[in-house]
Amino acid sequence: MTDLATLLEVGGPLAALGGGAAYARAKHPGVYWSTVGLPLSTARLLSSYGSVMEACGLTVAPSRLRMLAVKATTRREVRPVPPRRGIIRPTSTGLRLRLRLAPGQEPADVAASAERLRHAWGVHAVYVSTIKPGVVELRLVGFDVLRRVRMPRKVGGGLLRVPVALREDATPFVRDYRTIPHQLTLGATLSGKSMYLRHLIAGLARQPVALVGIDCKRGVELAPFAARLSALATDPEQAAELLPVLVKEMEDRYDLIKARQGIAPDTPDEEITSDVWGLPESERPVPVVLFVDEVAELFLVATKKEEERRDEMVTQLIRLAQLGRAAGIYLEVCGQRFGAELGKGATMLRAQLTGRVCHRVNDEATAKMALGDIAPEAVAAACAIAPERPGLAVAGDTSGGWSRIRTPYLSLADAADICRASAHLVPKLPALQPFRPDAPVSPVEQPAPVAQPRPVTG
Ligand SMILES: Nc1ncnc2c1ncn2[C@@H]1O[C@H](COP(=O)(O)OP(=O)(O)OP(=O)(O)O)[C@@H](O)[C@H]1O
Ligand SMILES: [Mg+2]
Repeated sequence: MTDLATLLEVGGPLAALGGGAAYARAKHPGVYWSTVGLPLSTARLLSSYGSVMEACGLTVAPSRLRMLAVKATTRREVRPVPPRRGIIRPTSTGLRLRLRLAPGQEPADVAASAERLRHAWGVHAVYVSTIKPGVVELRLVGFDVLRRVRMPRKVGGGLLRVPVALREDATPFVRDYRTIPHQLTLGATLSGKSMYLRHLIAGLARQPVALVGIDCKRGVELAPFAARLSALATDPEQAAELLPVLVKEMEDRYDLIKARQGIAPDTPDEEITSDVWGLPESERPVPVVLFVDEVAELFLVATKKEEERRDEMVTQLIRLAQLGRAAGIYLEVCGQRFGAELGKGATMLRAQLTGRVCHRVNDEATAKMALGDIAPEAVAAACAIAPERPGLAVAGDTSGGWSRIRTPYLSLADAADICRASAHLVPKLPALQPFRPDAPVSPVEQPAPVAQPRPVTG
């Protein structure tokens, strides 16, 4: 009987603790990591560092001096030397650790062992980045941060910089228009493209930037943000009127730069090397970001007459992509497919869009359209995205780097609220005034009269 009581006394709390840990691990992985995962993984790392490095082939033979010193002071056998380890820095999602590479090693050697290290230390993933020659940082991620995305508190915002998603190594993915002026976002239907746009609009809404939308889905995605938009086109006809105005705005800005530089006004635009950022702040025109959702709609034509309009629009888009950056005009293009089959100009426009984000796709060809010129592994990663995870995407840029990212959830109502609250930031751009959408009036409650009016009788 006493045995049973002891078993219950000891086993009960232990089972409750184990159950609680399992629950926290499944439902609140962040809490689990901070309380259980982090101490466990740190203990594993500290106790097994040398042997794991040796098993991964990351050790080097000890120097002669070291051999002599070890032999002279201890009776231990002389073991191979692992890379020198810096202090372990815990974070809310994992831990970081710097290693000084031994002579003859390169960062790729450590990166090749990342999968082995992750299993040895019981973490979700290990990423390796180079800090400076000879020093790499191991970023251990404790749990799948893309399952329920929470952006870190410290994110590098700023003018034309929007932390829009989280990378799988728990660092924020920042859409920076100054370094990557134009971007193409592809993905099948329901893959999360519009959510991505929504985050960008909500992020830029609070900045002194003009937002222009072309949403050929009759405006269902962008119209809720009307209060903050400087212009909105909801079908190809309106887009055909809006695009020449933007091109004219771009040309006016070039004239402004030329005037500032004292260059003759007939110099061709392409020869201007400076941009609007070189102008003094008081004269600098406000940056314009053009969002195009469902870009293929602009290319599809049924009649001969529409074909002319289409060709004009495509040419204008290409001009904006080619010359817009220096004039402070940036493109954010979204679509389900964007291949040569869309017709003349499609591949040329695509080539101008440096940034690439590919959400879930239905076929490899679409992933290749977005990421083919970046890296073959990025195409494979995009094809492996599951439909249960909308918003998950592979982001790359034409410099060859890529990573898995996911946007946090942001409801349309919340994004529209942000736009309404920042409606006063809509910059003055007279050229775009005719395209300014009617902002939906928010239902304001009628104030109840304090006293009922009574007819005056006398
Ligand atoms: N990061 C995310 N987290 C959770 N849910 C998401 C995320 N991104 C998108 N979703 C959900 O997935 C659904 C599809 O998203 P979205 O409308 O952005 O897709 P889309 O690619 O624009 O589709 P379409 O091509 O049909 O316009 C929406 O219900 C949205 O709420
Ligand atoms: Mg959409």
